Amino acid sequence: MRILTGVKPTGNGMHLGNYLGMYKPFMEVAKWKEAFLFLPDFHSLTSVHDPEIMNRNKKRLAAELFALMPEDITVTIFEQSKMTHINDMTWILSSVTPYSLMLRAHSFKDSQTKNSDINMAVFNYPILMTADIIGYDVDIVPVGKDQKQHLEFSRDIAQNFNKTYGVDFFKLPEPYIEKTVELIPGTDGRKMSKSYDNFIGIFDDEKILKKKIMSIETGSESLEEAKNPDICNVFNLIHFFASSQKEQEIRAKYLAGNYGYGHAKLELLDILLKYFTPAREKYDIFMSNYDVIQEKLNEGNKKANALLTEKYLKMKELVGL
Ligand code: TRP
Repeated sequence: MRILTGVKPTGNGMHLGNYLGMYKPFMEVAKWKEAFLFLPDFHSLTSVHDPEIMNRNKKRLAAELFALMPEDITVTIFEQSKMTHINDMTWILSSVTPYSLMLRAHSFKDSQTKNSDINMAVFNYPILMTADIIGYDVDIVPVGKDQKQHLEFSRDIAQNFNKTYGVDFFKLPEPYIEKTVELIPGTDGRKMSKSYDNFIGIFDDEKILKKKIMSIETGSESLEEAKNPDICNVFNLIHFFASSQKEQEIRAKYLAGNYGYGHAKLELLDILLKYFTPAREKYDIFMSNYDVIQEKLNEGNKKANALLTEKYLKMKELVGL
């Protein structure tokens, strides 16, 4: 059993929503399966055209992924752009991908409504993503709900290839959509997401972290009044990160009154700092000595590249090249 997912370097870094909705569940599964996590940096080219920003975003995300990785788990982390044949495979796959299928992609339709002219990488995005998955014989792909259609495309394209050449060559990947993501509130109470700009970054400066937490929207009851923890965005986050004993304690304080939202926020800050301090410390070390990370990535690249190359060479033969 092999699982794989890609985390696009965007520059904002990992936030609490990514962590609970994607990273943590992925690491749980990684205990039992062969797991791959990669940086789809070719995909980032759809929107990032500044080499310095590209590089900075990638470094930051790689250091974050390694800093958060539990010690007892081995996940292969690699860089998409270091795969020798990923685009060759994408090209062959594009020759069995109907144009009409591509026209149905939400991702491309959404960016088309935002921009008057999109680049071809945005249009071809799902074919590269297909190669990312089926090129390594992946069984399960944990993704957010927004990627569900891309996974369907991967299955369709894999099937098209198998049918066209009369072979059972590519495995059809199964998506795994984690439900928790929907439940993690951002600072405005909506689902925590980069696109809403309501996220709380795990590796942000303590000052920024505090500012973000203090900006979480809450009710407007007076300090004295009793408060309902179950409808409070602050308490909702406390629930995910505090020990159950701590959670019960804070719940009691909400219900008793004389406990303000400001108190709860400071408590949340404290809980988050405790929870993430080991990872934050590791992150600082990695960022000041990035060679360590690059070496780990090189190892991952070697392993992933060997798998993809083997698959690609067979594929090339199958098509008669
Ligand atoms: N499209 C994904 C996103 O925007 C990133 C991605 C690229 C990916 N290739 C992938 C995710 C392969 C899972 C598997 O989040």
